[in-house]
Amino acid sequence: MYRIAPSLLSADFSRLGEEVRDVVAAGADWIHFDVMDNHYVPNLTVGPLVCEAIRPHTTAPIDVHLMVKPVDRIIPDFAKAGANLITFHPEASEHIDRSLGLIRDSGCQAGLVFNPATPLHYLDHVLDKLDIVLLMSVNPGFGGQKFIPETLAKLRAARAKLDAYTERSGRRILLEIDGGVKIDNIAEIARAGADTFVAGSAVFGAGRETDPHRYDSVIAALRAELAASAS
Ligand code: DX5
Ligand code: ZN
Repeated sequence: MYRIAPSLLSADFSRLGEEVRDVVAAGADWIHFDVMDNHYVPNLTVGPLVCEAIRPHTTAPIDVHLMVKPVDRIIPDFAKAGANLITFHPEASEHIDRSLGLIRDSGCQAGLVFNPATPLHYLDHVLDKLDIVLLMSVNPGFGGQKFIPETLAKLRAARAKLDAYTERSGRRILLEIDGGVKIDNIAEIARAGADTFVAGSAVFGAGRETDPHRYDSVIAALRAELAASAS
């Protein structure tokens, strides 16, 4: 019912393969892969070569979050590198429908990402082309920021739009949240309507305090909060 997607942004970049294996062994459902270009966001991370390098380390879906502009050129490269889902920010695409189509034609699931200040109306005319909607609960660019509380109301609004869509189409679109997700707020975020949770610093920060690095207790704690929120 719920998916936990640790963000590699807070992992140890000198040993990414091992980090991927450890976090999946600890119960992660997806690997969240943040791509930043020092243009759309003021930071620079990793590209398709690194996605390809981690691919053999897990069968878990790789959830590529593109914070790049333009988006279309790089989409097929990530599909070839083993991405399962690719999401992008509507402001970064010259033609949203075409970018979504390109992702699906490349064999991946497609999604749109909404910054805290980006209105949800971008959803209205592309629902049939979406597999996932990602709401940012921080301004993108860096891990370890604080959850912006106004995102809860936006999540409820997105949930309502997606539920109405499911009712008329019979098709379900996932609702993912990214930024500042922690053990102490994940239950509230789930109650607002999210079903998929990116957590970077919460998972890799906590795991790093143990020796050897273990992520099972933090992932179990996140899941316990989710189970409690559902009851
Ligand atoms: C921010 C990234 C996030 C980030 C989340 O731009 O999109 O995925 O890694 O990190 P935390 O969970 O530490 O806020
Ligand atoms: Zn992200």
